[in-house]
Amino acid sequence: MKRVITYGTFDLLHYGHINLLRRAKALGDYLIVVVSSDEFNWNEKHKKCYFTYEQRKALLESIRYVDLVIPETCWEQKVTDVHEYHIDTFVMGDDWKGKFDYLKDEGVDVVYLPRTPEISTTQIKKDLTGK
Ligand code: CTP
Repeated sequence: MKRVITYGTFDLLHYGHINLLRRAKALGDYLIVVVSSDEFNWNEKHKKCYFTYEQRKALLESIRYVDLVIPETCWEQKVTDVHEYHIDTFVMGDDWKGKFDYLKDEGVDVVYLPRTPEISTTQIKKDLTGK
């Protein structure tokens, strides 16, 4: 059983997220999505989510590619998560290219998938507030 992990906020879930999750799952058999808690988003990423953590988690749990959703509460947890959950492959979109290469030292493959062009949560919010 090959285990894959990915991290993100996944607010206002959109097709860019689904594309990422589908390709992440295709790299293995079991996909864990680590979703930023509301506190982590606000304190560390300076982002206020439209949907709460519980709402974002419920949406992700309803996606066929996703096997488990857990919270992200600090930057450092990636190192412990990959061991605790026996991860083979760490996946992120390529907006994070190179940023998590240090996880290779923990014995996992690190893969950056091309982002889906044009769509993002930030763009959706901008487009809707401009109307
Ligand atoms: N992602 C992607 N393609 C997009 C948007 C996001 O592949 N068009 C990926 C990101 O690279 C990341 C995951 O989806 O691995 C979660 O991204 P997140 O930051 O939650 O989504 P964004 O839409 O980029 O949100 P924001 O605009 O708030 O940064």
